Amino acid sequence: MRTLEDLSDVSGKRVLVRVDFNVPLDHGKVADDTRIRAALPTIEELRRRGARLVLASHLGRPKNREPELSLRPAVDRLAELTGANVTLAPDVVGPEVRALTEKLGEGDILVLENVRYEPGETKNDPALAAEFAQLADVYVNDAFGSAHRAHASTEGVAHLVSDRAAGHLLEREVKTLSSILEDPRRPLVAVLGGAKVSDKIAVIDRFLAVADTLLIGGAMCFPFLAAQGHAIGSSLCAQEDVELAKRTLQPSGESRATIELPRDLVVGDRFDAEAEIQTLDGVEVPDGWMGLDIGPRTAADYGALIDRAGTVFWNGPMGAFEMEPFAAGTRAVAEAVAAAGGTTVVGGGDSAAALQRFGLADRVTHLSTGGGAALELIEGRELPGVEALA
Ligand code: 3PG
Repeated sequence: MRTLEDLSDVSGKRVLVRVDFNVPLDHGKVADDTRIRAALPTIEELRRRGARLVLASHLGRPKNREPELSLRPAVDRLAELTGANVTLAPDVVGPEVRALTEKLGEGDILVLENVRYEPGETKNDPALAAEFAQLADVYVNDAFGSAHRAHASTEGVAHLVSDRAAGHLLEREVKTLSSILEDPRRPLVAVLGGAKVSDKIAVIDRFLAVADTLLIGGAMCFPFLAAQGHAIGSSLCAQEDVELAKRTLQPSGESRATIELPRDLVVGDRFDAEAEIQTLDGVEVPDGWMGLDIGPRTAADYGALIDRAGTVFWNGPMGAFEMEPFAAGTRAVAEAVAAAGGTTVVGGGDSAAALQRFGLADRVTHLSTGGGAALELIEGRELPGVEALA
C-alpha cells in the first residue's frame, strides 16, 4: 500500500483527501468528533508539507440535497481543531468549486459538500470520478470507515490520479486489523456480540479458523443456545440463525477456536428499561421472558479469558447496554478489555459507542473508526478503497 511517505513533493499541490466525516449530529452540531480527530494526523502532515487541501466526505445517506446533511457542522469542528483557514464549498464538484481549489493557499482547507448529494457518488459514476480528479493533483484516501464502498470518491477517482496514497489512519487501520489475523500474540480471543448471527457469520468463520477462543454474547447467543436445545423464551432469535449456529457448533477440521457461550443470563419481561428483571442461574429462559444481557458469572469468565489473552478483538455489545439494567455485561467486557495487558483491538459501531459511554475509549490499543469496513476486512474481503490505491 502506498503511503504518505511515498508521495512526491506535495508543496503547493492540490491534495484531494477522502476522509470519513460521517459523524453523529445533535441539533446541527457534531455529537462525537472521533472520526474528525482521527483524520488530523494526515491533514496536519499534509499542511506541514505545504499542500493545498481539498477534503471530501459523505454524511448520512441523503436521498437528495437534504440541508440537514450538509458538512457545515463538521467544517466548523475541523476549523476549531486545526485553527486552519477552512472553507465549505457551495457544492460537491463543478466550475465554481474548481475555481475555489485554484485559489487555495498552502495549508488552507476546502471541504467539498456532502459527496452523496451527487447521485453518481454511490453508483461510482465515472463522470463524477473525473470531476473529482479535476480537483486533485494528488489523491489521498484516509476514509477507512468508507473503504468497503466502491464509490466515486473512494474508488473511481483513485484510478484517475497517479500520485495517490493511503493516509495515516487508513494505513494504521489496515495494518492493525490485518496483523491480528496474520500474526497475533496468542492466545487470540475474539469477543463477538450484537443482534444477528447471519450479520456476523463470515467474521465468526474467520475467527474459528484463526482465534483460540471465541466468546459469544449479545442477542447473537440465543441461536447458539437454541441450537444446543436450551429454552430461549421470547429472546430475539431468527430460525435461519439457529441453522447457522448449528453448523458453527459442529466440530470441523478447519476450526482452531473453542466457542464459549453464556452460562447465566439477565432476562426481562419486555424490551424496556422499566421491565421486570431476573438474573437466571443458568440459560433456560422461561416463557414470556427475553434474554437482554449476559449474567455476572459469564461476565467474570469472559473477563478472565480476556485478561489472559495475548490479543483481544471485540465487536458487538453483550446485551442491550443502552438500557442501564442490561448494561453490566457490556460494561464488564469493556473494563476487562481496557485493563488487559495484551493487544486490544475494538471494531467500530456499537462496541466503540460502549467504550465511549464507559469512558474507556483511550484505554485500548486500537479503536477502529470503521464498523462495516473493519468487519469486511476481518472476513477476508478486499476493500475497494484500499485496492484502488495499489
Ligand atoms: C460508516 O459510518 O460505517 C461509514 O461512514 C459508511 O457509511 P455507509 O454505511 O452509509 O456507507
